[in-house]
Amino acid sequence: MRASHLEDFYSFLQFPSISTDDDYSKKVNECAHWLVEKLSGIGLEAQLVPTAGHSVVWARNQHRQGRRTVLIYGHYDVQPPDPLELWESPPFKPVLKDGFVFARGATDNKGQILSHILGVQETIEQARELPVNLHFVIEGEEEIGSGNLGNFLYQHRDELRCDVVLVSDTGMIAPRTPTMSYGLRGVAALELKVSGAKMDLHSGIYGGAVANPATALAQLLATLHGREGRVAIPGFYDKVAPLQGWEREAWKKLPVDVDAEVLKETGAPSLFGEAGFSTLERIWARPTAEVNGIGGGYQGRGTKTVIPSYAMAKLTFRLVPNQKTDEIVALAKKHFEKNLPTAVTLEVTAGHNGPWYLTDPHNQFGEAAQRALRKAFHAEVALIREGGSIPIVSDFRDILGVETLLLGLALPGCRAHSPNENFPLENLDAGIQMNQAVLREIAALP
Ligand code: BES
Ligand code: MN
Repeated sequence: MRASHLEDFYSFLQFPSISTDDDYSKKVNECAHWLVEKLSGIGLEAQLVPTAGHSVVWARNQHRQGRRTVLIYGHYDVQPPDPLELWESPPFKPVLKDGFVFARGATDNKGQILSHILGVQETIEQARELPVNLHFVIEGEEEIGSGNLGNFLYQHRDELRCDVVLVSDTGMIAPRTPTMSYGLRGVAALELKVSGAKMDLHSGIYGGAVANPATALAQLLATLHGREGRVAIPGFYDKVAPLQGWEREAWKKLPVDVDAEVLKETGAPSLFGEAGFSTLERIWARPTAEVNGIGGGYQGRGTKTVIPSYAMAKLTFRLVPNQKTDEIVALAKKHFEKNLPTAVTLEVTAGHNGPWYLTDPHNQFGEAAQRALRKAFHAEVALIREGGSIPIVSDFRDILGVETLLLGLALPGCRAHSPNENFPLENLDAGIQMNQAVLREIAALP
């Protein structure tokens, strides 16, 4: 690993580019500026395109007739680092330990997108130019649902015309096992607010006379699932495509012990989920409903005898083919309104969402990518689906009319979204090789 590559990685990681928190807008912007500088520095024409939210970094080489055009997408925003006390080193002061760089965003997505930038840099240094016409589109709002990127794509759809999109923001099934993902789950966010009295009340003076919104919220959330984690919203599974036999067989043969891996990585006391499906099937091909956070009432030290005025919960659904986001949100709203306990009121607010994605890993670009992966990693390629979501990928199909190659470099122990997120330098290097191999293979397609 070149010293300058490591310096770039550290510089990139030092920006707390937390897109969800307005207090960090300036840092998000500084990070975007750093990227523009970096991309210009390697010889691309780079610019910052403002949106209604955080800016998009857009860079391209000199395009020439008769060459394939590739759009490489990634994001420079990160999730909040909390809970801070669980980090072994500060989240925005990268440190190298046993070959792994620890920092928020190390894997998701700074290390992964940087490996593409460095791959392009090395190619330009060695060969003076790239074998393809290239766009980099690196956004600052992926972790909050990419709400403004669709617009950007639509407005610039002619200039962004391309043959295929390349994304490294997914996982590898195991270290040194090159992996191509051909599916993502969708996501839809909802917030519930259950209200009672106009203020927190003395629970002795009023307890027994008015409803407790925290209790009502707990009762409401308890209607969301059956005992085994199956979602109990009527109609939720109506459009879920059944798993294909070939897929179940192929996933059984993947070279990993997923159950052991999940137990080890998470520290959970046991596995849990819908009956009749393996862990991988539940994560990759079955929908879920999750409570992401819950609050209301007194949360400080000691005790406080109050009846809270309100209680709230943040939820997200993970969706699979062929569920429709809007339909699921409507079904959920209806379900919560119907099951609301008496003597409280409910407010449901829909948040960001993005559809699922499923593509054919054996189209000509998929095959080219697999050849490149084999060459870069000297190993057989694992074909997988993912439990996570990248909301904009379905827009690449709908707006630009192209498929996306998901060539991720995240390891099972990367701790994305968790404390002590990390990325191995080995994968920064592998990503550089992969970038060069993929662009070569795509350029060579007839
Ligand atoms: N890199 C992830 C998506 C991902 C995670 C793909 C795991 C494959 C496996 C991405 O940055 C992400 O976290 N997306 C969010 C999107 C959401 C906030 C709209 C997600 O999946 O929660
Ligand atoms: Mn993420």
